[in-house]
Amino acid sequence: MFDFRIAAEDKAELYRQLCDAADALTAGEPDAIANMANVASLLWEALPDLNWAGFYRNIDGELVLGPFQGRAACIRIPFGKGVCGTAAATLEPQLVEDVDAFPGHIACDSASASELVVPIVHEDRLIGVLDLDSPRRARFDTEDKDGCLKLARIIAPRLAEVAKASVDG
Ligand code: SME
Repeated sequence: MFDFRIAAEDKAELYRQLCDAADALTAGEPDAIANMANVASLLWEALPDLNWAGFYRNIDGELVLGPFQGRAACIRIPFGKGVCGTAAATLEPQLVEDVDAFPGHIACDSASASELVVPIVHEDRLIGVLDLDSPRRARFDTEDKDGCLKLARIIAPRLAEVAKASVDG
């Protein structure tokens, strides 16, 4: 059983604890889907005011829904489309205070008001993106962006492989 109690006075400490927990949870486990599922759960539990937390994977140049917490979401997002597709195409994090003001925002859940998307890169390859949505406008700031970038760097190597059994049947 995993019982990570993440509680912190400030965001810097919160993300330190989150990164440590994500590191411990994914260490030694090569299966990307299992690791994304556990990290999505961790983020969902640790970060307040979220209505969606999860991953889109880069499958042959298209973003495909990965493990997440929250409502059922759009399955495929082309690079360059919406907040996630923009992060994938530019390899730059997208911090969106008001999703209604973002051209081409894809409204998977009408509750979403602000969004943070961080690209996950391993060995110069885009593995996918981490996507956080909040029902609160301007929920995310640069501390969230920096914290999620650090998290993405830690977990990237553990999200790069899918267990062979699921490919070979
Ligand atoms: N809003 C995103 C789509 C994904 S959902 O938020 C889960 C976007 O514009 O890329």
